[in-house]
Amino acid sequence: MRENRAQFATRLGVIATTVGSAVGLGNIWRFPYEAGVHGGGAFLLVDLLFIFVIGVPVICAEFIIGRHTGSNVRGAFRQLAPGKAWGIVGYIGIAASLLILSFYSVVAGWTLEYIYQSVTDFSGVHTTQGLHDQFDSFAQSNWRPVMWTVIFLLCNYWILARGVRKGIEKMSNILMPMLFVILLIFAVNSLMMPEAAKGLEFLFKPDFSKVTPSVLLGGMGQAFFSLSLGLGCLITYSSYFKKETPLVKTAFTTAGLDTLVSIMAGVIIFPAVFTYGQEPAAGPKLVFEILPSIFSNLAGGVVWSTLFFVLLFLASLTSTISMSEISIAYFVEEYGMARKKATTLNFAIALVFGTLCALSFGCMSGFTICGLTLFNLFDYLSSNILLPVGGMIISIFVGWVLDRSVLRQELGAPVKPVPRLIAKSIVFCLKFVAPVCIGLVFIFGLGII
Ligand code: TRP
Repeated sequence: MRENRAQFATRLGVIATTVGSAVGLGNIWRFPYEAGVHGGGAFLLVDLLFIFVIGVPVICAEFIIGRHTGSNVRGAFRQLAPGKAWGIVGYIGIAASLLILSFYSVVAGWTLEYIYQSVTDFSGVHTTQGLHDQFDSFAQSNWRPVMWTVIFLLCNYWILARGVRKGIEKMSNILMPMLFVILLIFAVNSLMMPEAAKGLEFLFKPDFSKVTPSVLLGGMGQAFFSLSLGLGCLITYSSYFKKETPLVKTAFTTAGLDTLVSIMAGVIIFPAVFTYGQEPAAGPKLVFEILPSIFSNLAGGVVWSTLFFVLLFLASLTSTISMSEISIAYFVEEYGMARKKATTLNFAIALVFGTLCALSFGCMSGFTICGLTLFNLFDYLSSNILLPVGGMIISIFVGWVLDRSVLRQELGAPVKPVPRLIAKSIVFCLKFVAPVCIGLVFIFGLGII
C-alpha cells in the first residue's frame, strides 16, 4: 500500500505539517481562555505535565502505528489487529474529528471577521469596552458568524481537494515560521506593558490550591487537543512519513514547539488582560476581546492586526486540514470514494454542525444540553473525553498488544536508532503511566466516584 501513497517530501515538510497540525487555535485561542478560567499557573503546570508525561509517548505511539501501516486510522487497526475491537479508536477518531472541525471552524470564522474588522480599523472603535461590545454584537448577529464559518469551510475544502503534498506541505513550510516570528514580536510588546508583571505572575505562578479535579480534566483535554492527539490525526499524518523520519525526535520537536507557542500566546494575552483591567476568566471570547485592544494601542495597529489575524486564520487552516484528513483518508481508503467526493462529504457534515455551533452564541444560546451550549458541548465532549479515551486505547494497544518487532522496527534503524533508555521509558509510559493517569483523571474529574 505504501508505494502508491503520497509521502511528505522533506524533513522540514514533516516537521512543518505536524507542527502545523498541532499549532492553531488550540494554542492561541483555547490555551489562554482555559488557563484564564482555570486559574492560570496551576493550569499551565498541569498542561505541561500531561504534554510531556502522556503527550509525547502517545504521539510516538500514533507515529509507530501510522508509519508502520501506511494507512488511515480504521485500516491501520484492521491491519495490526484483524477482527479485534481495537479498531473502535478509528470510529471514535472519525466522529471526534468531525465534532472538533465543526466548532473549530466557527472560531476560525471569527478570525476572518477580525481580518475584515482590522482592515476597516474596527470601524474607528478603540476603547476596550467598545471592542467588547463589538464582539458581542457580531456573535449575536447570527448570520455573520454563520457566513464566516461557511467561508472558512470552503477554504478548507479547496486546499484538501488539491491533495496532500501540493496543498498542505507547501503552505505549512512558509506559514509556520512566519507565525512564530510575529508571536515573538507581540510577546515582547506585551512584556513592556504596565501590568506585565501581574500577567506573568498569573500565568506562571502555580497556586496549588487551585489544582482541582476539573483543572486536571481541563489540563489533560488541553494537552490532547493542542497536540492533535488521541483520534488518529497523527496516525494519518505519519502514514505519509518516510522510513527515514526519526519518530521520537519528531515527537519531541512537535511537543516542544507547540508548548512554546501556547506559552507565547499566554505571555501576549495576560499582561494585556491586567493592563486593560479585564477578567481573565472571560471564556471563549477572551482572546478576541483582548487582542484588538492590544493592536489598537500599537503604532500601525491596522497593519499588525491584519497580519496577525491572517496568520491565525492560516494556522487554523493547517489544523483543520489535518483533522479533515482523518475522515477523508477513511472515506477514500475504506469505501473507495473519490477524493473529491470524500472531501465534499466531510465539508457537508461540518457545514451542518458548524452552523449549529455558530448559532450557539446567538439565537441558539438558550439551547443547552447538560447546561452547555452546542458549541461548548462539542468542545467539552471531544477534548475532555473522546481524545483522552482514544489516547488511552492507543497507548494500551501499543504498550501491551502490538508486536514487539514492530516497535523495534519503527524505533530502530535505518537512520539512527532511539537510545535504549528513551525507548524503554516511552514503552513504560505507554504501558502504565498514560492509561493509569488518564483513568484517574476521568474518575476524579468526571466525579465518577
Ligand atoms: N491541535 C490543533 C490546535 O491546537 C487542533 C487539532 C488539529 C486537533 N488536529 C487535531 C485536535 C486532531 C484534536 C485532534 O489548534
